[in-house]
This record gives sequence, C-alpha cells and structure tokens, in this order.
Amino acid sequence: MTVFELYKKTSQALSFGGCGEFEAKVIFEDILNLETKPYDYASVTASDEQIELVKEVIERRKKGEPLQYIAGKWDFYGLTFYVGDGVLIPRPETENLLECVLKEIEHISNPIIFDLCSGSGCLGITAAFLRPDSKVYLFEKEDKAYSYLLKNLERFNLKNAFPVKCDIFDFDFSDLPDADVIVSNPPYIKSDEIPLLQAEVKFEPISALDGGKDGLNFYRCIASRWISKVKNKGFVALECGDGQSSDVLSLFSNNLSEKKVIFDFNNIDRIVVFRI
Ligand SMILES: C[S@@+](CC[C@H](N)C(=O)[O-])C[C@H]1O[C@@H](n2cnc3c(N)ncnc32)[C@H](O)[C@@H]1O
Repeated sequence: MTVFELYKKTSQALSFGGCGEFEAKVIFEDILNLETKPYDYASVTASDEQIELVKEVIERRKKGEPLQYIAGKWDFYGLTFYVGDGVLIPRPETENLLECVLKEIEHISNPIIFDLCSGSGCLGITAAFLRPDSKVYLFEKEDKAYSYLLKNLERFNLKNAFPVKCDIFDFDFSDLPDADVIVSNPPYIKSDEIPLLQAEVKFEPISALDGGKDGLNFYRCIASRWISKVKNKGFVALECGDGQSSDVLSLFSNNLSEKKVIFDFNNIDRIVVFRI
C-alpha cells in the first residue's frame, strides 16, 4: 500500500464524524510527520510502522478519544500548545476572549493580567507572548493540567508569565500586584449535564467542565473574591456557556461602570465583560 492509499483509507475510516479528510490530514502531518502533501507520496510504499500507527490512531478515535489528545498538541491563536489527558483542549471560541483582552490592553503599558483557571495556558501564555511588556499570572489547581501549563510555559520560554498552583476559591492573593485585567474561561457546565456531553468531551477532565449545580460556582467566586483585586477602571472578561450571560451579569455588582455581553460566531452569548 502506498502512503497516499493509506491516507485515503484513513480519511474513509474516520468519516463517521464528518471530518475524515481533516482528521487524516492532521494524522499525516502531526503524527506521521509527513513534510509535504499526501499525494506527493503516491508512489511511496507505506512502512509497517506507519500502517500500525495509523491503525492504532483509528482505533483510539473510534473509542471517542479526541484527535487533539492523540496528536499531543493543538493550535490556539496561531501558537501551538501541548495538550493531552487531564487538560482542556483550547477551543476556537476562546480566541474571541483573548481578542477582547488584547484589545483592552492596547492602550495600557506593562499591563498586569490574571488568567484564572488557566489549564493549558492558552489564554495567558498567548497574551504574554504577544505583549512582552505585560506580566501574566496563570492560576491552575489540578496536577495534570498544571503540568501541561508548565510544559507550555517552557515551550515559549517566557520571562513575563508566572504559574501559580492554587485553588482560586481560597488562594491568598495579597502578595500579588493588582490586575489591570482578569480573564477566565472557568468550568461552567451544570453538574447534571456532564453525563449528557458528547463522547470526545467526556475524555476531558470533569474538573475543567463542572461549574456546580447551576454552572455558576466559579463566577460567584470571581464576583465575590477576585473583583477586589482589579485596579480602578480595570477590566474583567469571562467566557460563559450558551444562555448563561444574564445569570453571570447578575452576580456582579450594579456599581460597575460597564457590563457587556459579546456573542460568538454561532451567535451564542459567549463572553461577559465588566469594567470596575
Ligand atoms: C474550562 S478549563 C479552561 C482552560 C483554559 N483556560 C482554556 O480556555 O482552554 C478550566 C480550568 O480550570 C481548572 N480549575 C478547576 N477548578 C479550579 C480551581 N478551584 N482553581 C483553579 N483552577 C481550577 C481546571 O483544572 C481547568 O484547567
């Protein structure tokens, strides 16, 4: 069998999710590390190792394991992050949240940014990478997610990003400077909706998904504790789930100078922003 034939077979085998061609492309580029397009290998015989590896990947995919975990990395806002068991896969809609923050800090020099519930670090690390004059603190509680955060920090070798292993519900932040911006994509799924999630999402850690009975536990924590750590005229940008924005807004004081909801590309109320 040629490499190109193997590619076409992979694409067919993975067509159950409707993205066979895309998945085959990721497998060949990121897992088999082929440097050019599959049809360039139309007359190259596939090795036994390549055939075995592809077989194994197809089996794992059929069991619902996310392609991103199998590849071990995923792109976010043009940067590549390590991902795997125990860490949330960066989502395209979260790029909107980052854009919101980047726009906000355009006019602030040396901004201090807190990324609460940072997971892989996709939000905080990208902000630190794009704004070397910033100082970004990334807060994460879970061991596995934290180890990916450290790996990703090492990958980008940033001098302006600081990981903090903690539980945001009781962390004593008094030694840290006040923040210009708090950004967070916290767990926000209602506990009783977790069993209904699609197979791929269930491979992701519950600790990254479960926002408590009404999905709002983390917003309550941010509204009651962390808001006091934001500078006057500072900014808070939070991702939320479909239909949650008005409940999230209601948790924050009416005294804030600005409260706004931003909709994503699917017209879902995805981001809530506040100005102190
Ligand atoms: C929805 S994920 C977001 C990850 C990343 N910010 C992103 O957008 O891809 C939420 C993260 O919060 C972390 N987390 C859960 N409970 C936490 C807590 N009490 N304190 C700090 N981090 C927590 C989870 O481990 C997970 O990595």
